[in-house]
Amino acid sequence: MRLIPDGRALISAAMTQTHTVRQAALPEDMRILLRDYPREAWPDHPDFATSIANWMGAHLMFRQLARTLTRDGERYLDRERDADTHAERLSRFGGALVSSLHGHHHWEDTRFFPELSAADSRFDPGIEILESDHEALDATLHRFERAANRVIRLTTLDEAQAREETADVLRESRTIEALLTRHLADEEDLVVPILLHHKLRG
Ligand SMILES: [Fe+2]
Ligand SMILES: [Fe+2]
Repeated sequence: MRLIPDGRALISAAMTQTHTVRQAALPEDMRILLRDYPREAWPDHPDFATSIANWMGAHLMFRQLARTLTRDGERYLDRERDADTHAERLSRFGGALVSSLHGHHHWEDTRFFPELSAADSRFDPGIEILESDHEALDATLHRFERAANRVIRLTTLDEAQAREETADVLRESRTIEALLTRHLADEEDLVVPILLHHKLRG
């Protein structure tokens, strides 16, 4: 009985992800500074400031939170975790991911990216791609939040339905993971060389 709806969910998950996640890497001319400032040399560079390390640390936290949410949903569906614990963790970690990512994007769009553009406008096309990634991420976060809130409410009202709709939460958390994988690596590869080259944020 459950094979048909689950199968449909799987197909629509794959389609949603393909449409949402940018497939192309940043254009090659956006990577010219990366050749002079390769990733493996960043930590030892004299201009690699604490603020840059903290910003990359936030990215790591986003990745970990998204992974935790996906694993939690899988464990709940595999009956390795009870419904109340799942709802409590979904509320705590889901709320943390959504609010911290919204704050992070807002700061990058309104403060950080304009500062980079003022320092070196050659990379504006790359910045614009990162801004569109934020829009795709925000739309996915909205869908995730709506699906997660339904599951949290249903946990006390109708647990079978909560379990059913956890597939929607998982679809969105997996899309968030895929979006973050693409976006954060490209963002760091574009931004950190600009910061080091122009000695910014030190
Ligand atoms: Fe970021
Ligand atoms: Fe970003």
